[in-house]
Amino acid sequence: MRKIAVFASGSGSNFQAIIDVVQSGQLDADISLLVCDKPGAFAIERAEAARIPSFVFTAKDYSSKEHYEEEILAHLKASGVEFIVLAGYMRLIGPKLLTEYKGRIVNIHPSLLPAFPGKDAIGQALAAKVKWSGVTIHFVDEGMDTGPIIIQERVRLDENETRESLQRKIQKCEHKLYPSVLQMLLTQGDVINDTKARAH
Ligand code: GRF
Repeated sequence: MRKIAVFASGSGSNFQAIIDVVQSGQLDADISLLVCDKPGAFAIERAEAARIPSFVFTAKDYSSKEHYEEEILAHLKASGVEFIVLAGYMRLIGPKLLTEYKGRIVNIHPSLLPAFPGKDAIGQALAAKVKWSGVTIHFVDEGMDTGPIIIQERVRLDENETRESLQRKIQKCEHKLYPSVLQMLLTQGDVINDTKARAH
């Protein structure tokens, strides 16, 4: 079974969706670690409830991204993590982790990339008055929401769409899509082995 780490900064509803499918046997993965950069984030409570170890840190306690990523890497290695799942982790991944986990880091973003990258994608979509937005799952590279796209699903905006209603629709879509894509990626051994081979 693949050992994965989930990185989250906030509520962790996607993290919970992943925990739920692992527990119900629909996703063949072992969530070995939560990495969280916000002490007090609800994601940490979710990890405790599911008996998942977490590494919680505060970036400003370190002199640089390289230094905290070095520590993250040590925790990932100690837990035998093979694959990283970003779920609302509000930091760019640096060269240290990208090199070590090349092709084995994925992210979920609440828009149809390349539209509305970065913060508040839902607010950006509402402000642009688009008729469709959605969810993107992509491999992570050094940019902000720029890596190769794996899958996208559309969500329709109604005339009277509010931030809350759109967020609900997007979350509902995310919580179904992320587990199913992870199951596909983690059970296609070749995908992981190939990218692993390329990384070295
Ligand atoms: C999600 O909308 C995800 O697409 C984005 O951050 C949000 C995280 O939400 N990257 P949650 O913490 O999983 O509830």
